[in-house]
Amino acid sequence: MDRALRFVFALLVGLALITLGASVVVQRTAREWFEKDVRLRAQLAVNGARHGLLARWSPERALELRALLEELTADERIRAAAAFGPECELRARTPEFPEALSGERLRPHLLANAESTAAAPREWHAVEDLPGGRVHVSALPLSGESAVLGSIVLVQDFGFVERREAEALRFLLYAFAFLALAASAVTVIAARVSWRGWSNELRRILRGGQSRPEFQPILGDVRELVERISAEGAAESEGGAWTPARLKQTLQRHLHGEKVVIVANREPYVHQRRADGTIEVMHPASGLVTALEPVMRACSGTWIAHGSGSADRETVDARARVRVPPGEEAYSLRRVWLDADEERGYYYGFSNEGLWPLCHIAHTRPMFRTEDWRHYCEVNRKFADAACAEVDTDDPIVLVQDYHFALAPRLIRERLPRATIIAFWHIPWPNAQRFAICPWRRELLEGLLGASIVGFHTQADCNHFVESVERFLETRTDPELNAIVRNGRSTLVRPYPISLEWPARWLADAPSVRECRASVVRELELAPDALIGIGVDRLDYTKGIEERLLAVERALELHPELRGRFTFVQLAAPSRSIIEAYRRLDERVVELAERINQRFGAGRYRPIVVRRAHHEPPAVFRFYRAADVCYVSSLHDGMNLVAKEFVAAREDELGVLVLSQFTGAARELTEALIVNPYDVDEAGAALAAALTMSREEQRDRMRAMRAFVAEFNVYRWAGRMLVDASRLRSRDRLAGRLTNYLVSAARMER
Ligand code: G6P
Repeated sequence: MDRALRFVFALLVGLALITLGASVVVQRTAREWFEKDVRLRAQLAVNGARHGLLARWSPERALELRALLEELTADERIRAAAAFGPECELRARTPEFPEALSGERLRPHLLANAESTAAAPREWHAVEDLPGGRVHVSALPLSGESAVLGSIVLVQDFGFVERREAEALRFLLYAFAFLALAASAVTVIAARVSWRGWSNELRRILRGGQSRPEFQPILGDVRELVERISAEGAAESEGGAWTPARLKQTLQRHLHGEKVVIVANREPYVHQRRADGTIEVMHPASGLVTALEPVMRACSGTWIAHGSGSADRETVDARARVRVPPGEEAYSLRRVWLDADEERGYYYGFSNEGLWPLCHIAHTRPMFRTEDWRHYCEVNRKFADAACAEVDTDDPIVLVQDYHFALAPRLIRERLPRATIIAFWHIPWPNAQRFAICPWRRELLEGLLGASIVGFHTQADCNHFVESVERFLETRTDPELNAIVRNGRSTLVRPYPISLEWPARWLADAPSVRECRASVVRELELAPDALIGIGVDRLDYTKGIEERLLAVERALELHPELRGRFTFVQLAAPSRSIIEAYRRLDERVVELAERINQRFGAGRYRPIVVRRAHHEPPAVFRFYRAADVCYVSSLHDGMNLVAKEFVAAREDELGVLVLSQFTGAARELTEALIVNPYDVDEAGAALAAALTMSREEQRDRMRAMRAFVAEFNVYRWAGRMLVDASRLRSRDRLAGRLTNYLVSAARMER
């Protein structure tokens, strides 16, 4: 209908323009015709009266001449007439002959006429605006035997020409207006009839009415697509903040409340047996867990993970499941058991000695062993089997997490071709040249391309991934969709920068910022006006912990006034400690801290406090809230959620974040002091600047970062992925049904 109106509008504009153009042409043509007509009439009149005029031409017959002229004006168009001799002298005229056309006005033309010959007489015509109206004046020569004797001037009414023109124009306008109305009416009626037909048919179909049998296989999907599009429109227009409720609603609307199955190596809750025999529940130090756990609490479903806790087996049911979080029981944790060889080969070996250093530019050599690869393949299969066992439809939503499971998407796809699989890679993706180091590069890429969507934190990671696929596999890239097409199936490759729940749940029971600071000051035996720095990481060589401590040392070197006052607390969770590179790092960090403490320590004052232990989130938040500055110095990091956690913890809008430019977070938290962690001078100066920054500036920066994290929280991260997945799913379903329909139609024709 909309189109019909647009057509009618275009038609009317077109016709108006045509009418305008036509009226100009018509006016000019009509005038030429009328002028020709008037001239002809004058010539005919003079020619007809020629003998009478010649006979009365002598001056003594002037009265008769005048009578003849009056006869000429009997024609209703000829208003007046006059006769002039060869010297322009007036011989006779009718009473109406205008004064304005006295001899002077006509003189040059009358003389020109008189000078012409009888064989080639000249005549003059003109349109004149006189007081009585517009007239046409003709000065026609009166030829004798051999010479021109004078001129007869006829004045004809020309006003009628304008009246005729106006009439013609009016007619033209009416004609075009009629045409326009008729054409518009026909268009609108045709559009209405066909739209009504379509919409009635569509409405009938969507209401579940009977439709033609050949359409029936795809109608369910059309119906679903229509509902989804309108729901999406409604959801978009709802706007507002992303909350657990909105995420849940999105899941229900877009994916019919289907549960989500997550495959991730690290479990969100680890049951550990304490020395006293009791069991404690731990929250592991993992950015992946920090981000995904709130999503699972909002969505419900099943998280499949390696059961790594010492009391994990004792706390599950017969099918290796336990409801979590303890006390809330919002979703299921399904534990997968790995024996020591599997854990060594798959987790420590291929994942953390191979892929982890391959993907991070942190100058640790990747190690690829065939034995580790074999375990990696086996464990991927084990988790893929678990995922297929956990789903309850043939087109479930499975979120495969991180570099531990590059093969799982393809394995799940083989078993569940209709599944929506989202693979999210939480760490950077190397460029193609670096990726070539991996002997099983093709298998990893093929595995990931089993997913419907492969997500990364940044566009740069997406580009590197696409570059690797183009280099090592036969595929087609669809740059408009950001998709890779292989064997007729597309995989979208998109950036989804991860984030935190907002507000952080650890804030609910957290002591005030003032209390946190007081307790940390007390615990570390600091001076009341101490300046406190904080770093929170797993003990990992990608985190730049050594560079961080060196920057603290540099700040103390450059600013003696900070000595005795500035203490940097490093919370370092032991991680992957059977790998040699991690053990060596641990030793180096301890040595470095000791050296700096010896150099700048005095009495009880130690500039660096390293706590090599696991800290539960409330303890970590206490330090965030107590600190004046938080330094995140990763040498390379996919996102880094510590930076965002520090921002989330600071409801008081104080505290300064110093952030490595090599983190994904640096692209979002631009109000942090962004530094190159390798440039120890720069980082040291940034730490000193942070410690002396005015409260107003701290507030401005922190407020902006908090607004960003609040808006771009983890519910939004998950919501965007699920919406994209649902769109893809509808499209695939419809495309599949249409293909089947076309194939069967082609068969029937044969
Ligand atoms: C990174 C990885 C996560 C991992 C976390 C902790 O953030 O992307 O997948 O869980 O490190 O490492 P861990 O080996 O202890 O799980």
